[in-house]
Amino acid sequence: MDDFDASRAAARMRDAESSLNGLRERFSVPKDGVYADGNSLGLHGQDAAAALESAVAEWRELGIEGWTEAEPPWFEYGERLGARLAGILGANEDECVATNSTTVNIHALVGTFLEAADGDQVVVNELDFPTDHYAIRAQMRARGIDPAENLVVVESRDGRTIEFDDVVDAVTDDTAIVFMPSVLYRSGQLLDVPRLTELAHEHDAYAGFDLAHSVGVVPHDLHDADVDFAVWCSYKYLNAGPGAIGGLYVHEDHFDLPPALAGWWGHENETQFDMRPEFTPASGAAAWQIGTVPVFAAAPLFGTLDVTEAAGIGSLRERSVNLTDYLIRLVDERLPECDVGTPIDADRRGGHVAVEHPNAESLSRELRERGVVVDFRQPNVVRVAPSPYYVGFEDAWVIVDELRSVLDADERRTSSDEDSHVT
Ligand SMILES: Cc1ncc(COP(=O)(O)O)c(C=O)c1O
Repeated sequence: MDDFDASRAAARMRDAESSLNGLRERFSVPKDGVYADGNSLGLHGQDAAAALESAVAEWRELGIEGWTEAEPPWFEYGERLGARLAGILGANEDECVATNSTTVNIHALVGTFLEAADGDQVVVNELDFPTDHYAIRAQMRARGIDPAENLVVVESRDGRTIEFDDVVDAVTDDTAIVFMPSVLYRSGQLLDVPRLTELAHEHDAYAGFDLAHSVGVVPHDLHDADVDFAVWCSYKYLNAGPGAIGGLYVHEDHFDLPPALAGWWGHENETQFDMRPEFTPASGAAAWQIGTVPVFAAAPLFGTLDVTEAAGIGSLRERSVNLTDYLIRLVDERLPECDVGTPIDADRRGGHVAVEHPNAESLSRELRERGVVVDFRQPNVVRVAPSPYYVGFEDAWVIVDELRSVLDADERRTSSDEDSHVT
């Protein structure tokens, strides 16, 4: 190795030099220990809490008038948040809307694009988050398409990553949609969204993406890459709280498609309260909203987007790459019994690192007992997410140091068990 310095002092120095100092203070970071699970649920922060409290106060003070008199009016939450999310996703303001949950948005958009497509097949991959497959299969069945024949699942070669060439082999002229995650939830591999989109378009198929693990931590260029549609949640890196509202993007070229799961919240605003039985879609992605916006699940996002915008998605990505890079090097150096399941190349890496060990489940548990919050994913992954919003280099050092100490304690226990068998 080169001049990599694995000392705690070096980590502390890197924290002192960070251009994003001050961000962490906005979050309820645990006093003892480290919270490294922000890719499951981002931490509570003062900005989310203030935005939520302000919505609650508006409810108290305005009652039903809040729909039009709150700031911003609750009625416009979806579009207003969508316009801001567009800024971090590289989309036009009217191409994004905050609405529903990720799973519901997959139903809404896969349904819509299946109806519009010539082919019947949907290409996914075996390392997808399961809800994506459940929703896609249900949408296929609803249209009389047999998923057993038409859901094409790209297999991984190593159980960790999906190779572009294998997707190439799976896409044909019968493909309706190539639906992939931006970042694989287990290994943290970042897929090449523009290249996959280009591939789908070469076969006259649509390209859709689940951005759950990249929104708020990896910049995107959805519009210019001609991505057809995308979905995401805001409770991970966007820190908007448990069950916070999801979001969706539809490229403006497809604004004329009829939403597959139409509902009155997707109706054109001006005439929504005329209560006509015919559905006149809102212009833009807003048409894919379904029912009443969950105000308290959406309000915190106004606060947390202030934080994301102030830090800048480019700087957050830079810090995230530096943190995952550092973590990977420390694991290499100090944990020889563990493998890193995340691509080493930063361009193929999202915001978290998969530390692999046969006892990953008990390691994750023991880490939590020591105040280091990570999570376990089957079969052998400790997922460590150094969220650039509130995890520092010294925190990363502590995570690896605690892992070292848990592994050493396990090793000592195993050898004393063996000794007691011998005697
Ligand atoms: C890639 C991905 N998609 C979807 C979900 C969950 O969807 P929902 O927000 O509808 O529960 C998760 C949850 O962790 C996820 O990681």
